[in-house]
Amino acid sequence: MAFSFNESSMNEFHKWGKKFPENPEGRRSLVIPALWISQWQNGYISKDVVNYVAEITGTEPLHVWGVTTFYTMFKREKTGKFFLQFCTNITCTLMGADQIFVNTCKKLGIKPGETTSDGKFTAVEVECLGACGSSPTLQVNDKYYTHMTESEVEKLIAEFRGAK
Ligand code: FES
Repeated sequence: MAFSFNESSMNEFHKWGKKFPENPEGRRSLVIPALWISQWQNGYISKDVVNYVAEITGTEPLHVWGVTTFYTMFKREKTGKFFLQFCTNITCTLMGADQIFVNTCKKLGIKPGETTSDGKFTAVEVECLGACGSSPTLQVNDKYYTHMTESEVEKLIAEFRGAK
């Protein structure tokens, strides 16, 4: 299905447009904000999103795809409502993150990278989230949770299960 911005996304895009020069380089700089706005609206960056962002920024789909694949914060597949990103880089792993990740996947009944059958949770491993001093660090959607333990993660998941 073809993608296009809804009214609120288009308003947000226009706000960003005012921050860049009205020339091809300025339009090209709008690719990252346009991808963010698309992800907020669509949940992930589909091929239709790539084509749409290329069209509205006057760039090539290949360039937009390159940006999408370079930055890990852009999701290329649909995920659960709660996207659990466990940092398992060195500091977090030294603090037990790898075990927390494995056990959380088991409790959710999924393999790493999978989504629960109710569509609520996807759990993945990610590289350093830049919060090593507060490890283990977990990012859920756009929010960081630090000093995580297995029981803290369980509490969070129970909280999210009850969320509407
Ligand atoms: S190693 Fe996990 S936040 Fe840096």
